[in-house]
Amino acid sequence: MSTLTSLPQWQALNQIAASMKDAHMRDWFKADPKRAEKMQLEACGIFLDYSKNRVNEHALGALFDLARACKLDDARDAMFNGEQINSTEGRAVLHTALRNFSDSPVMVDGEDVMPEVRATLDKIRDFTALVHSGEHKGYTGKSVKHIVAIGIGGSFLGPKIMTEALKPHTVETVKVHFVANVDGCHIHDVLTKLDHEETLVVMSSKSFTTQETLQNTLSAKAWFLKSGGTQEDIAKHFVAVSSNVKAATEFGIAEDNIFPMWDWVGGRYSLWSAIGLPISLALGFENFKGLLEGAFDMDTHFKTAPLEQNLPVLLGLLGVWYRNFFDAQSQVLLPYYHYLRGLPAYVQQLDMESNGKQVTQGGEAVDYATGPIIWGSEGTNGQHSFHQLIHQGSGVIPADFMLPLNVPNQDDTHHAMLASNCFGQAQALMQGKTFDECYADLEGKGLDEAERTRLAAHKTMPGNKPSNTLMFDSLTPKTLGALVAMYEHKVFVQGVIWNLNSFDQWGVELGKVLGNQVLAGIQGNAEEESFDASTQQLIARFRAANAP
Ligand code: F6P
Repeated sequence: MSTLTSLPQWQALNQIAASMKDAHMRDWFKADPKRAEKMQLEACGIFLDYSKNRVNEHALGALFDLARACKLDDARDAMFNGEQINSTEGRAVLHTALRNFSDSPVMVDGEDVMPEVRATLDKIRDFTALVHSGEHKGYTGKSVKHIVAIGIGGSFLGPKIMTEALKPHTVETVKVHFVANVDGCHIHDVLTKLDHEETLVVMSSKSFTTQETLQNTLSAKAWFLKSGGTQEDIAKHFVAVSSNVKAATEFGIAEDNIFPMWDWVGGRYSLWSAIGLPISLALGFENFKGLLEGAFDMDTHFKTAPLEQNLPVLLGLLGVWYRNFFDAQSQVLLPYYHYLRGLPAYVQQLDMESNGKQVTQGGEAVDYATGPIIWGSEGTNGQHSFHQLIHQGSGVIPADFMLPLNVPNQDDTHHAMLASNCFGQAQALMQGKTFDECYADLEGKGLDEAERTRLAAHKTMPGNKPSNTLMFDSLTPKTLGALVAMYEHKVFVQGVIWNLNSFDQWGVELGKVLGNQVLAGIQGNAEEESFDASTQQLIARFRAANAP
């Protein structure tokens, strides 16, 4: 037994879960009219109703005890204080420094990183202003109208999804186009629509080694040169964001055009760094800063609120409860707001790349489930496709519903319908519909007893399906920043409980290495025999189809 599963707090949770296996939330709501009032939290502009969870005070108390036993407070302080908590890469984890609006220094290896952080923010602000005012000109004297933001993973999802989520704040002077996939169709489709004289390419790669981003940038460069630009003109049309300034300059980006970041910022936590430059260009610097301010508020809440009143802690522990004691394989995120439709994909990388791990910090194999599958999409579309599985499928899929109380372009009817669907789904998941109710509905339908029983069984909804409902006044940059930071810290909490390093991604790294080896095989630069028989066969068919 691992240290975690042998903890008395873990065993207590096992017992509590077993004892409430047959308890139904429907009955708890009936028995306690104040349940919803008691099980709510509000912080940083986010309201959480967590009353539709399969927990009572007893279970919650035991979950908080587990957090204490796992020394969550110490782990949290170690992160904020810049300790090297990414132990396999020997790095501090300090995305929180990027949104530190306090006067406190943040030390890494004995040096305060805040002056550099602030200088980079100033550089983003000034560059954004130059582009928006038209003072930053292309090589023919035209101002910039289009930004092509190239990056992948955290160097893409954050900028794209935040820009999309804050669409009502978009500036009119420039349009930002995002390209991630190395599939040439994408960059081709984007570039063919653009005038190279009015285009600025922002290449974002923390490592500056990522194949997709390097290749897409090379293609953009080739397009720029073919369209009439020269090597000298590149400086006016290409900027880069990277922690690898040397590689970026060698690639041909002028040093002045490089926005720095640091190895203590993980890729999936990097939208708050200069990786967020496309957000600033799309929405204006003040809105980008608003995102950081909201995240800072959530950091402060996470650091200071008691565990029981702490949004990320509570959400993290509920996730552990379902993953480890109810065998929930996945968690679904359901934003009922069109502009927030990308959030599930964002949290997918954040959570799955962080806690998709199978060994503890000490390198021992875990004997408990770790990170869940994260998925979801915007309401109400999901209701007409995958919600069926959440309602009547054989497993438990905890859901996070999200709804802004006010929306831009407000149309009362649309918004009321959206809200009613959101609340109605959470209600249906919780209460379900009993066999007796379904059986009664079928009275007088001319069915014999056997058929009525059979049909009622199909229509029965078990209910007791857990969900959180998160609401906020409207999705401002600050609220979005707080919401994203809330999920970051939730993932952190779970990583601490599971004793994982949530900040490396060795599985992904192996994929990168093998991808390059196979490319050599496809290009005829590697021995066929160095691949397994299946890969050899795939390469051979590809080469045959693409032979000159
Ligand atoms: O997918 C792995 C990963 O390392 C992510 O963590 C990261 O966000 C992405 O690749 C892109 O990396 P880079 O910014 O170094 O190009």
